[in-house]
Amino acid sequence: MIELKNISYAYGTRLVLDHISVRFPEGKCTCIDGPNGCGKSTLFRILSGLIFPDTGSYLLDGEEITQKKLKQKAYMHAFYQKIGYVFQDSEAQLFTRSAEDEIAFGLYQLAYDPARIHEITEKYISLMDLNEVRHQAPFTLSTGEKKRTALAAVLAMDPKIIILDEPTASLDEDGQTWLIAFLQQLKKEKKTIILSSHQPEVIAALADHTIQINKHHQIVPNPENKA
Ligand SMILES: Nc1ncnc2c1ncn2[C@@H]1O[C@H](COP(=O)(O)OP(=O)(O)OP(=O)(O)O)[C@@H](O)[C@H]1O
Ligand SMILES: [Mg+2]
Repeated sequence: MIELKNISYAYGTRLVLDHISVRFPEGKCTCIDGPNGCGKSTLFRILSGLIFPDTGSYLLDGEEITQKKLKQKAYMHAFYQKIGYVFQDSEAQLFTRSAEDEIAFGLYQLAYDPARIHEITEKYISLMDLNEVRHQAPFTLSTGEKKRTALAAVLAMDPKIIILDEPTASLDEDGQTWLIAFLQQLKKEKKTIILSSHQPEVIAALADHTIQINKHHQIVPNPENKA
């Protein structure tokens, strides 16, 4: 279970999250909606340990996540096996030489043995239909291929919590339908899913509950927001 308690965050002097308190229930899908610039991606960067709140606390399974703890390698590895983050901009997420290296990278970091890395990589290449493009440099992939590669790299780590920042926004209709069905399957596997979307049909298909952030960077009070 993830809980944010009274989180605030500013880039310099610009406050973009203002006293956010929210709980994300385990095994459920929570959708976050709100206008451009309200702070959704910033919230996700906090949840995935890339940045840290100025005030307030972030609890994962009752334990506070801090910068100091995440600086310890073993702790960081355990954290990234719990939480996977698919960026809004796949281009910013992909950095290795090929689609298949992208999937294997995190597994090497975990020091899995080569046979296991190979097995998991093949599984996700097949699942995400990436065989034809597996040797291509990430920047040469189409938008949908980039998204599937980023998703494969995250899922290969088998995290129990998956954060997806507007995952369907840049996909065509077939790509969206496929991804929604795929995420519905992950829900059946009791993964905790946290995603942002502006698309009512995506929210309707996936959300167990929704959270609204307003242009003032605050949670919109709504009894349904309570986990
Ligand atoms: N690294 C940064 N430095 C300065 N300001 C930033 C930085 N990253 C984001 N911001 C600002 O913080 C605000 C919130 O950005 P964020 O990306 O979290 O919004 P968002 O809700 O995800 O928007 P969108 O729906 O467009 O994706 C924006 O005004 C943005 O310009
Ligand atoms: Mg965003």
